[in-house]
Amino acid sequence: MKGVNGIIMITKSTNKINETTFYLSGKTMSYIMAVDKIGYLRHIYHGSKIRPRGGSEIRNLDAAWTAYVEDRIILETALFEYPAYGHADLRIPSYSVTNSGGDSVSELKFKGFEIKENHVPELNGLPCVFAGGKTAQTLEITLADEKSGLEAVLLYTVFEEYDVLLRSVVFRNTSDKPINIDSAYSANVDIEQGDYDLIYFAGSWGRERDLHRQPIQLGSKTDISAARGSSSHCINPFVMIAERGADEEHGNVFGFSLIYSGNHSSMIECDHSGNVRVMQGINPLDFGKELKPGESFETPQCVLSFSADGIGGISRELSDLYRNNLCRSKWVHRERPVLINNWEATYFDFNEEKLLAIAKKAKEAGIELFVLDDGWFGKRDDDTSGLGDWFVNLKKLPSGLDGLAKKINDIGLDFGLWIEPEMVNPDSELYRAHPDWAIHVEGREPALSRNQLILDLSRPEVCDYIIDAISKVLSGANISYVKWDMNRPMTDMPRKGYNYEYMLGFYRVMGTLTSSFPDILFEGCAGGGGRFDAGVLAYMPQIWTSDDSDAIARLKIQYSTSMGYPISSMGAHVTAVPNHQVGRVTPLKTRADVAYTGAFGYELDITKMSDEEFEEVKRQVEKVKKLRGLTLNGDFYRLKSPYETNCCMWETVSKDKSEVFVMVCRVLNTANTNEPHVRLTALDPDADYRDEETGRIYGGDELMYMGVVPVYENRDFSSFTMHLKRV
Ligand code: GLA
Repeated sequence: MKGVNGIIMITKSTNKINETTFYLSGKTMSYIMAVDKIGYLRHIYHGSKIRPRGGSEIRNLDAAWTAYVEDRIILETALFEYPAYGHADLRIPSYSVTNSGGDSVSELKFKGFEIKENHVPELNGLPCVFAGGKTAQTLEITLADEKSGLEAVLLYTVFEEYDVLLRSVVFRNTSDKPINIDSAYSANVDIEQGDYDLIYFAGSWGRERDLHRQPIQLGSKTDISAARGSSSHCINPFVMIAERGADEEHGNVFGFSLIYSGNHSSMIECDHSGNVRVMQGINPLDFGKELKPGESFETPQCVLSFSADGIGGISRELSDLYRNNLCRSKWVHRERPVLINNWEATYFDFNEEKLLAIAKKAKEAGIELFVLDDGWFGKRDDDTSGLGDWFVNLKKLPSGLDGLAKKINDIGLDFGLWIEPEMVNPDSELYRAHPDWAIHVEGREPALSRNQLILDLSRPEVCDYIIDAISKVLSGANISYVKWDMNRPMTDMPRKGYNYEYMLGFYRVMGTLTSSFPDILFEGCAGGGGRFDAGVLAYMPQIWTSDDSDAIARLKIQYSTSMGYPISSMGAHVTAVPNHQVGRVTPLKTRADVAYTGAFGYELDITKMSDEEFEEVKRQVEKVKKLRGLTLNGDFYRLKSPYETNCCMWETVSKDKSEVFVMVCRVLNTANTNEPHVRLTALDPDADYRDEETGRIYGGDELMYMGVVPVYENRDFSSFTMHLKRV
């Protein structure tokens, strides 16, 4: 048995069925695969940790394998690592090709492997997880199709400290003829037969990442995909497969997260014996890549996670991974400033005087950062013009950005700015100078959305222009924060595979700007939460979660988003009532209580608040400053689901269990009911905890097992919080 620090072990078989077995281990999970006699790479196991035992294989695959060898039957229910099309397997393949002869048949067989110690792969131009001081090993398995000359190198990275497996694939054309890749998933896992549910996140503008859970039916094929140019409001590139009955804290759950912001697909097929094939990667729709002789192609990275402790286990693992090993911004580990954004306060209708009045009042409340949203540049009084012209509108802001930033700084606030660098309005100087820079198909009029077009980021000169124009803006004034928006879907793509080319340009632009301005806190955004994905999180530590800022709508949006992403990454603002998106009137307290569990801010005209409200805002700002360290580093637990009950309850606990914040929101009030006790989790039962507001002391055991009675106002939408510290 060969091993590397116990994370990756290789055994040679004694039972003549499989030749070589690969054991990959994480903190508490194992992933096992083997090469069979034919040379196929077969999946054996993914789940709770199993000790490698040299040569003594394993499970009931023997029957199928023997049958294959003796009778040459088709392996239509075998578990494969990276299934091909047209030969031994009849299910959906993890990649497909058109060979130079016009056929699509492919058969990948084992060619060799390499183990790279202390190594996490870097992908060419695509965001990916980095080692960040953790112990990681990478296994590269090369599979080859002898006839066509296509090679696929499967990359597997495991960490001693995590229960995740990083997967990606590099295709190489070793022949002397071109090969067309028509689809190329980043990972496939054939999960052994059983009863499973699919959990995914679907929605639209204002209703992002609505939680869906459905049984996976025998014979079903489900494509959880988006082809809208960005990861999109509609389907998120994160899905889970949960054993039937698995819940927040119990049961086996498998997570699939794609580190990619473009068109994506998570494909789930349940074969006739109940095995569940799960693939995740680039959406095959409109994908295509011609590989010329000697060329290679790399897929985005997929993070497979496993938890035997339910959905919550997956969420906490991904949070830690993203915070420590994905996001390269130094802000990922820094407490975020309490901000005020002028969008819902003024929309496009502002001048310097209005902005300064908001900033002054915000300073009085203890707010730290003023963010100037859309409308500060070019000729832009509404959304019909100006995008692309990244120079200040002196009519609105006569002292320029620099002058305004200085005035804001003099008030005692940092200054932040909204940009939408990938876009252009036809009514702009940029478009008039370079109409061909917008994505289009020659001879066709491209479709407008929000009166704008997308710049062609597959062209290096367009990327260079954006980098240059935005760099000038960012170095021309004292800017501490940037909100990077993207407000339309992508259409009129000039060729197959274009969206991937665009993404490479997008990542270059975003990578260059975020690394050139490392002190700036960047927040992603796309018409609200239309690009909330791990690709963006690699560059920016926070993303605007949704344009729907209503506290009750946010219960669901933040609850479900937290399943796949750190709570510290969710932009969450207190806004005015009646709420601008849904017209609901919720208490100011509830609006803040819900927003505390996120990157907190205000987005309203603070100059118009009553004295009483303003005093409340002051107290909220003081409170969030005490809580934000916990939000940044703590473990998150979802205790009651707003999708299932009239109540939403969540809790953040520090890693050492010394601090906890719990938020409960009762949606509708009812007369004459006993409220259920609030029972906490993951505390130290032997410790005592003090409520920071009331000073009252509770036992950890009391808080967890007996619970406390929440105190609500006698009205709808009332919330209750406790911030507790170990005594
Ligand atoms: C998008 C964002 C909003 C705001 C507007 C400005 O919709 O999600 O927060 O910035 O653009 O046009």
